[in-house]
Amino acid sequence: MSTPAPKKRVAILISGRGSNMVSLIEAARAPDYPAEIVLVLSNRPDAAGLDRARAAGIPARAIDHKAFPDRARFDAALQAELDAAGIELIVLAGFMRILTDAFVEAWTGRMINIHPSLLPLFKGTHTHERALGAGVRLHGCTVHYVVPELDAGPIVAQAAVPVLPGDDADTLSARVIVQEHRLYPAALALIAGDGAVLDGGRVRFTEQARDAGAAILSL
Ligand code: GAR
Repeated sequence: MSTPAPKKRVAILISGRGSNMVSLIEAARAPDYPAEIVLVLSNRPDAAGLDRARAAGIPARAIDHKAFPDRARFDAALQAELDAAGIELIVLAGFMRILTDAFVEAWTGRMINIHPSLLPLFKGTHTHERALGAGVRLHGCTVHYVVPELDAGPIVAQAAVPVLPGDDADTLSARVIVQEHRLYPAALALIAGDGAVLDGGRVRFTEQARDAGAAILSL
């Protein structure tokens, strides 16, 4: 029998409640999951997700961005923590701090983000309000590789939900977050298990991952 590939060492970066982080930690408990969550970092010391990570037995630390004079020095502190923990992949999960181009470029192909819209629609904030304002019938979430331009990186996976009559931003975001919690663990498994790789600005899937329809979750 062949030995399974070693699990990829993952850090999750958060700024808030950390519900996506929890879904990733839970998925990573499966013995055959290809990634191990070894560290949670938050730029906000008051992020509720920090305690949720500790409760799950994951080392969790705040690096308060307000304690640094500029983005470059904050990112250097982040990098030092990631290096010390031997991190191979960064997963942004509601991390609301813009990273420097230098940091993003150093992690090209090794950092992913989840965004609450069907990119390239509705980059930035207030995605649910804007989807309702635009009158779209489908909305959803996207996992993408991080590039210096905000919410613009190559798409790994998407999940769609219907926009229903009578929806407001709360009902719509509640429908989307259910899909986020399914999509993100699936997308991380795809990347950590080498089912998807960044190749010249596009995401390339192995035949096996393509056959499994791994990149799409829907309604
Ligand atoms: C999620 O909906 C995530 O998609 C969004 O923040 C929320 C975090 O929730 N991320 C962004 O808007 C990034 N631009 P969580 O802390 O409960 O995972």
